[in-house]
Amino acid sequence: MASTAKPVQDQVGRMEAELGGVVVLDFGGQYTQLIARRIREQQVFSSILPCTTSMEELMKLEPVGVVLSGGPSSVYDPEAPKCDPKLLSLGVPVLGICYGMQWITHTLGGKVERAERREYGRAQLNLENASGDSASDLFAGVARSLRVWNSHGDHVMMLPHGFRTVGRTANAVAAVEDRARKIYAVEFHPEVNHTEQGTEILRNFLFRVCKAEKKWSGAAFIEETVEAIRKKAGPTSRVICALSGGVDSTVAAALVHRAIGDRLTNIFVNTGMLRKNEFAETLEMLRERLGLRVIGIDASDRFLARLEGVSDPEIKRKRIGAEFIAVFAEEAQRLQREEAHGEIGFLVQGTLYPDVIESISVRGPSATIKTHHNVGGLPANMPFALIEPLRDLFKDEVRRIGRELGLPEEILVKHPFPGPGLAVRLLGEVTGSHLVTLQEADAVVVEEIRRAGLYEKVWQAFAVLLPVRSVGVMGDGRTYGLTVAVRVVQSDDAMTADWVRLPGDVLERISTRIVNEVPGVTRVVYDISSKPPSTIEWE
Ligand code: XMP
Repeated sequence: MASTAKPVQDQVGRMEAELGGVVVLDFGGQYTQLIARRIREQQVFSSILPCTTSMEELMKLEPVGVVLSGGPSSVYDPEAPKCDPKLLSLGVPVLGICYGMQWITHTLGGKVERAERREYGRAQLNLENASGDSASDLFAGVARSLRVWNSHGDHVMMLPHGFRTVGRTANAVAAVEDRARKIYAVEFHPEVNHTEQGTEILRNFLFRVCKAEKKWSGAAFIEETVEAIRKKAGPTSRVICALSGGVDSTVAAALVHRAIGDRLTNIFVNTGMLRKNEFAETLEMLRERLGLRVIGIDASDRFLARLEGVSDPEIKRKRIGAEFIAVFAEEAQRLQREEAHGEIGFLVQGTLYPDVIESISVRGPSATIKTHHNVGGLPANMPFALIEPLRDLFKDEVRRIGRELGLPEEILVKHPFPGPGLAVRLLGEVTGSHLVTLQEADAVVVEEIRRAGLYEKVWQAFAVLLPVRSVGVMGDGRTYGLTVAVRVVQSDDAMTADWVRLPGDVLERISTRIVNEVPGVTRVVYDISSKPPSTIEWE
């Protein structure tokens, strides 16, 4: 399922700004990506590697520090994830978080006690009193007592030789260090907002312990990515881009355009699963306002035909993904035939970090949640190599890059839209008439959210068409119509999301307009579930 193609950075050698950063080794923890992001917020590059990465591979990145993530396992599990113990004698500073702390303790000869059950939630961390030379670098300038966020199973019972305890919670040793070997470990999660002064603790690790340099910025990212793409594409090869007019693919295309100009041809496919009027409006904007070379292909009928009789969400996603690539391959061949110069060797995609993490777990421990079509659904024998310049970034980081590139604000604030489009918001089989119904209802939701001045304040606002009919009454007659669910969520990065408490009058306008203006719909409900346990999309 996962494509074997590698992102551009890996294929052209690491970019300068990526060297000398901090590597996060993933033990399958739910916060792994958050750790990397918190580090980048401090302008230090951070990438995530599986914990099984060889030390040779790791050292190619010339890391100034390594963070070991948390993870759901116990060090005593037969399948417990491990990394090479040599890591602890390389002289590179290490910070173990949660499972990372237990792995360090266990590996260096300390003792870890298996807990009866995992402990989640807040705890009070009390730091040992130490001052002057013996004060801990990790906790410099931090209050002596802090509320921290815990999510762990095992406890450290006995420290390995050379370590000392720096802090405790009521139940456990919660922070330890071996300053001589520059190995630090905490049982709580400094990367989550619930931990007081967590950022301070991470900053201490980066700048006091690792002596990291602040060289990661939007401008550096643009400059180096453009250079890497140029090298990768070589002097003649041509590149096509799967452009959808969303933030991700547009920023990706703008970066590639900056690197190789009109050797980039963008292809915008109308899958028929787009929002109302989106195909025509977006095409015009990309061409007129961004000056990109864009071919628009209306393949709606093909996609609809492929979805006939299919109601399983994963099969829908995979079929759409496969059809997408087929349309691309055909278009590339046509371009190659008709424009005789330059082989098309590459396909640009706006894949982001959350797409990668939710489709392919870094090592295996973080389970696959859904197959996002621009990653997991790609066939392994794709005729193009991939260029995915945004693969390490989160949405808000991409928006910042887009702003720095000077893209119009209207693209940057656009709500995320899933690759398979309305197909995953139309539960059950996708038919042409249901698609129109959903497009109309969705347009009402977005219009009313904009009118209320909320569009830029929420993460996503959309309609979902349910294959549920219910009895209603209209005029003098009994109706038996469809149901629309309205979903409006707030989020920072789509990894978690909360439903938005919309004002009653906005909900009222949405509901009244949908029932009055969208034929066949007689009931509107509001989705009040958060992620987790629900996801943002319904399929
Ligand atoms: P979920 O539903 O997993 O969505 O909570 C998280 C974010 O990802 C978007 N999404 C997708 N994006 N291809 C994409 O490019 C997909 O298949 C896909 N599925 C979900 C979703 O809209 C939300 O912002």
